[in-house]
Amino acid sequence: MSSSTADIIGREDPNDLDAILGITNTDVDEIIHDVNASVDTLFTWNYERSRPALSKLYEKAKTSQWNVTTDLDWSIDVDQEKEVSNTPGIGMAVEAGLIDLSQTPVAHWGKKEWTNFEIESSNWSLSQFLHGEQGALLCTARIVETVPWIDAKYYAATQVMDEARHVEVFGRYLYEKMSSQYPINAHLRMLLDDIVSDSRWDITYLGMQIMVEGLALAAFGFMHMLTQEPLLKKLLRYVMSDEARHVAFGVLSLQEYYQGLNQDEIKERQEFAFEAALRMRDRFLQQEVWERQGVNPLEVIKFMRENGPQGADPFQYMLFSKIVPNCKKLGLLDAGDGWLRERFTEIGVIQFEDWVDTGEEYESLDEVAKDRAAS
Ligand SMILES: [Fe+2]
Ligand SMILES: [Fe+2]
Repeated sequence: MSSSTADIIGREDPNDLDAILGITNTDVDEIIHDVNASVDTLFTWNYERSRPALSKLYEKAKTSQWNVTTDLDWSIDVDQEKEVSNTPGIGMAVEAGLIDLSQTPVAHWGKKEWTNFEIESSNWSLSQFLHGEQGALLCTARIVETVPWIDAKYYAATQVMDEARHVEVFGRYLYEKMSSQYPINAHLRMLLDDIVSDSRWDITYLGMQIMVEGLALAAFGFMHMLTQEPLLKKLLRYVMSDEARHVAFGVLSLQEYYQGLNQDEIKERQEFAFEAALRMRDRFLQQEVWERQGVNPLEVIKFMRENGPQGADPFQYMLFSKIVPNCKKLGLLDAGDGWLRERFTEIGVIQFEDWVDTGEEYESLDEVAKDRAAS
């Protein structure tokens, strides 16, 4: 029997804004977040290197390590106000007359308020990247234990180091260079909880390597394109070099594993991918930023959605530009009755299905190797 959207995400209409914004982080002072999980830790006595694509990725990972302390110039001063004045945002669109918010609680906002909003918005984004990176650190440590293949254990071990570096680099940037920090967004936390509480090793991969990291790769790419700030720009270039390998690791591993699953098992993976997609889309409404400015996010977001130039922010769709082709490559889009294709069509992201998948892309994105060759 097919699950309904309500079974999967707890609401019938995936676009119900009241329901989405009703999910908030009610425990913002929490320090330790405990998720109960019971997994099988797998030894393997088969040490044969039988997966050349994973071996190649592992070799690449060993030579493309970089050091947050010495490869980045932390003496650079970051002027957030200057930075946001150079970057397109809602405030800029309002000023240019592209969005009319005169019927909303922010009607009276001028340059000062919008600048402040944009600064908070970037503080929020970096904070969520930081929390997501910690999710990746924990998930890849889990994969080392749970994946049955030696080549994948080797590779995942390198990724644990990569993710520690990412937590370090985003944490340092956020606390040394930015003006405020945000707790984890409730939608992102629900997704991370779902991933780490699942005992099936391939779900850790699907949730983290394909969905969360696929979105991160697109979001980092977008931010890298827009930012003029040299420290953040270089940091993102290096993080993206690593992330491209990570997504490739997910695609290469799951491609093999999914060939052995039956229709019902594949359907469960499709549902998981759809739920993850919605959680990630919903977190980007950045409701906490509006709240910190004393504005009810529902009043502004609903208005923008109904009256904005294209209904919704194109950036939100771009976030799926890696996820959809990777799901296609894994066979998840069209398996069974094409259930996931229908869902991705409904939420407006199916147009990315034939964009480049991330199985091979990592070689062209290795900026660390390029810098080393140049020097
Ligand atoms: Fe990462
Ligand atoms: Fe990663």
